[in-house]
Amino acid sequence: MTHSTSTQTPLESRASGPLAGKVRVPGDKSISHRALILGALSVGETRISGLLEGEDVLNTAKSMQALGAQVERTGPFAWQVRGVGVAGFAQPASPLDFGNSGTGCRLVMGAVAGCPITAVFDGDASLRSRPMRRILDPLELMGAKAGETKEGGRLPLTLHGARDPVPILYRTPVASAQIKSAVLLAGLAAPGVTTVIEQEASRDHTELMLKHFGADIVSVREGSHGRKIALTGQPELHGAEVVVPADPSSAAFPIVAALIVEGSDVTFSDVMTNPLRTGLLTTLRQMGAAIEESEVRGDAGEPMARLRVRASKLRGVEVPPERAPSMIDEYLVLAVAASFAEGTTIMRGLQELRVKESDRLEATADMLRVNGVRVEIAGDDLIVEGRGHVPGGGLVVTHMDHRIAMSALVMGLAADKPVKVDDTAFIATSFPDFIPMMRSLGAEFS
Ligand code: S3P
Repeated sequence: MTHSTSTQTPLESRASGPLAGKVRVPGDKSISHRALILGALSVGETRISGLLEGEDVLNTAKSMQALGAQVERTGPFAWQVRGVGVAGFAQPASPLDFGNSGTGCRLVMGAVAGCPITAVFDGDASLRSRPMRRILDPLELMGAKAGETKEGGRLPLTLHGARDPVPILYRTPVASAQIKSAVLLAGLAAPGVTTVIEQEASRDHTELMLKHFGADIVSVREGSHGRKIALTGQPELHGAEVVVPADPSSAAFPIVAALIVEGSDVTFSDVMTNPLRTGLLTTLRQMGAAIEESEVRGDAGEPMARLRVRASKLRGVEVPPERAPSMIDEYLVLAVAASFAEGTTIMRGLQELRVKESDRLEATADMLRVNGVRVEIAGDDLIVEGRGHVPGGGLVVTHMDHRIAMSALVMGLAADKPVKVDDTAFIATSFPDFIPMMRSLGAEFS
């Protein structure tokens, strides 16, 4: 689904609250993409409950249909996939459009790279601006071939899958679950063992879910923060049940809102607590946040818990660079929390933020600056001077980035003056019910 930038939907948020209630944010985006893709590469039936029905994931569902899988919605958030088996994708009749989603596009590139087919990959203006070379490099080593590409391998591009994919040992140049997952998904079709080594561990949902679908995959520590993952190729993947837990990256917005709006008390059910995704919770707790965890349980290797969050006085902290992979999507909203804290917060090693849905390092600094917060970018670090309150009154430019829109709206709920965003349309990519859910907790938007 591609949005037109000419029809923007602005919105303003203003001092509200206290926020109170119990909510379940939508299903995890990373797990939703993977459940559809692995279901499509399996033999038999996969049933998914709690799927995120956001535009990013719906585009992945459409791409799986275009590649030959049967994908059907059987009820609210309930989906069924009948797969084609490993390396069984059919040639798609038209270009695959991933809209705003880097994850959908890059993971499907990996899956297509192991099949003897040709597919055109495309997306919206934001996705067309993002680097794809980092994915194409290992896939070409495995035998796939990209047609003529723009600088940096940017979309649209044609990918010719390998007739005889070869397994490789690949060291990812940056901590990226998308690169790792693309190599592993291509490796499914290769004979022998495909190995990925990452210096900093990135989210491991692909590994956990491959195991759940019957693959032989082993992950061991590598160095002080890394992993070495070995996948035996050409397994018979069998359809499976997948229960998608609530997305911690979506919960991040109402969690920070509950912390900064005085008197708030909000409970979140079924939030995924995979340790490779909980960097924000660790950081907020260090800042003094009252976040209680209960009802800890797990499904298909993914832990989840209920979180109770109460408004808290926050103080500035230093966030080390090695924490970045476990909270890579949460820095925008952490910067909002840091603006309301007392003292300076230094977030280190944020170079990857520059290649997300927008240049999030610049966009975060701009969001804070227009609302009267002192902020500085020093190399790859972001430094926010918290003064216990935020003047607000700014207009925030969304840059086709859902997380900028939601972060700015959260900021407005506790700022002295309202905060306006130019466009809320992209929120639908990851959290379609964000605005009504926030209103149900007491947030005031107009
Ligand atoms: C994702 C990985 C992350 C993250 C993205 C989802 C995934 O990207 O930013 O929103 O599902 O694999 P990188 O691992 O490339 O940093």
